[in-house]
Amino acid sequence: MLKKITAAAGVVLLSVLTACGSGDGGTSSTNGGAKDGLTMGFAQVGAESGWRTANTKSIQDEAKAAGIDLKFSDGQQKQENQIKAIRSFIQQKVDVIAFSPVVETGWDAVLEEAKAANIPVILTDRAIDSDDDSLYKTFLGSDFVEEGRKAGKWLVENAGGPVDVVELQGTTGSAPANDRKKGFAETIASKPEIKVVASQTGDFTRSGGKQVMEAFLKSVPKIDVVYAHNDDMGLGAIEAIKAAGKVPGKDIKIITVDAVKDGMTALAGGEINYIVECSPLLGKQLMELAKKVKAGQDVPKRVVTEETTFTQEQAKAALPTRQY
Ligand code: AHR
Repeated sequence: MLKKITAAAGVVLLSVLTACGSGDGGTSSTNGGAKDGLTMGFAQVGAESGWRTANTKSIQDEAKAAGIDLKFSDGQQKQENQIKAIRSFIQQKVDVIAFSPVVETGWDAVLEEAKAANIPVILTDRAIDSDDDSLYKTFLGSDFVEEGRKAGKWLVENAGGPVDVVELQGTTGSAPANDRKKGFAETIASKPEIKVVASQTGDFTRSGGKQVMEAFLKSVPKIDVVYAHNDDMGLGAIEAIKAAGKVPGKDIKIITVDAVKDGMTALAGGEINYIVECSPLLGKQLMELAKKVKAGQDVPKRVVTEETTFTQEQAKAALPTRQY
């Protein structure tokens, strides 16, 4: 059971974009030659979500605006494709390699190759799990544990009795899935009547969220809340809830992370109850960091993205000017 929804707030963000990419570790060059001579190889995770599409657009647009020659690769959610792309960037002797690691572990060998070739690496969006932090210059992205805490905090503040939660996890082994789960679990631990009764991966996709939610609706006797690690899985869950004859946002409350346009539209329309923002607009900061790294200037080891949260009322107000 949930009490009446109250507000929470903060500040918001910056600019927007266009897209493209190649699959399977192959790369495509977008700017056809850098004006200032900086070439960046970027190994993207894939195109699994609305967030990812906006992130790719941000990187491509801002590379163009900064005069950086961007060699872009779409890893199609596979670590081996990203490793292949990074190796190809090393062979091409790019100035800087940037990438968003699909999973946290298993990067040391290829990053040691980049280090041996004297090519600086920037992590963006997702972190790696490595004992050797000399393998990358900086990590630009969100605090995913904090995002999980914000989701849990809203539930703690709005839960008025026993609450059975089902969790739709992101890609297994990825930083956002690990961290959003952790932050949420540690926060709801303060209220023992809130229980996560089932938790499974939907791989950050809409179809994955729908499929897992359909299974939960059949197997879990009581579901009060869905906690989805991104909007796309939450939107898939909405389809499954409706098909089961229940009303999303009322019979089953929904909390998600991202705040992309489709998620915000569902929030403003009452089908999602709360969204924790995760900004995909990392392109501008990434290009600035790349220029500094190439010039041999010091950069902070960690750059955390500024983010907020949205209630239904706040989503209605934010939607007309939402950039992604
Ligand atoms: O790493 C960021 C996450 O990846 C986003 O929350 C999700 O939508 C995406 O697929």
